[in-house]
Amino acid sequence: MTKKTITHNSRKITKAVFPVAGLGTRFLPATKSIPKEMLPVVDKPLIQYAVEEAVAAGVDTLIFITGRNKEAIANHFDKAYELEHELELKNKEERLRVVREIIPSHVDCIYIRQSEALGLGHAVLCAKKAVGNEPFAILLADDLIDGSGEPCLAQMAKVFEHTGGSVIAVEEVEHDKTDQYGIVQVENAADQRTTIQTIVEKPKPEEAPSDLAVVGRYILTPRIFDLLETTGKGAGGEIQLTDAISDLLGEQQINAYKFSGTRYDCGSKAGFLKANIEFALQHPDLVAQLEESSQKICGSAS
Ligand code: UTP
Repeated sequence: MTKKTITHNSRKITKAVFPVAGLGTRFLPATKSIPKEMLPVVDKPLIQYAVEEAVAAGVDTLIFITGRNKEAIANHFDKAYELEHELELKNKEERLRVVREIIPSHVDCIYIRQSEALGLGHAVLCAKKAVGNEPFAILLADDLIDGSGEPCLAQMAKVFEHTGGSVIAVEEVEHDKTDQYGIVQVENAADQRTTIQTIVEKPKPEEAPSDLAVVGRYILTPRIFDLLETTGKGAGGEIQLTDAISDLLGEQQINAYKFSGTRYDCGSKAGFLKANIEFALQHPDLVAQLEESSQKICGSAS
């Protein structure tokens, strides 16, 4: 079959899906009653960083795929009357501004419940009706990306505008970690943007086609929903987005894009702590206070 390169008239991404229904078991007990996406890096929950990234890329409709503990996320993006009133009374203007500016007024939030955590592919399929027949973005908030100069999704949106084909963010990972990621084989690994040839979920290092891993940012055409309808259980007994993307590859050209910036794997404790330290060092008021601790860390490491 000839692969189509351009599949949609619209090349503007206005809808983003945030799958937040995972169980987050690596962070128990912290995630017993709140989603891991509400864990804060310094003073902002992970999900807010992802939402800000999407809005900066032009998204105006946020679709959250939630699990049992949706309230914390819905409350976070809702107006907090009592809190705002209290801050007003106490003239805490800066804090009031922080609370009010969590989400711009032109942005809408949609919450959809994934009744069972059947996998990322299943979570994305839950967004089918809300997305409709448009290209859309998916952001996994536990991959926190500090784009160098330009947020990662905005970089990807440019690639989509230019090519009209789906775009998946990738980065090199250590060879012995391929079994934690979707791994792609690409046409030209030296290029920042290249074409994906194959994709496989969590291959053992000895079976991995490369060390180029998919990270939690995707721009996909809506055809993915039809394919997800028939995607069976894959790696780990879950319905995997990677398997549906593999089917999509048989029909459409898909771009792998090496984004500029740093990714923190905040689904793991080490990555989460690293993000907290490095983001804290970007806060001028925290740097001095952290110096003593960083000297201790450096001292014990030497
Ligand atoms: P993970 O693979 O990190 O799984 O999901 P998890 O359950 O969240 O975390 P651990 O491994 O138990 O600690 C990747 C992303 O997909 C979402 C998660 O919320 C996370 O953003 N997800 C996963 C769903 O929304 N639904 C699912 O059924 C599975």
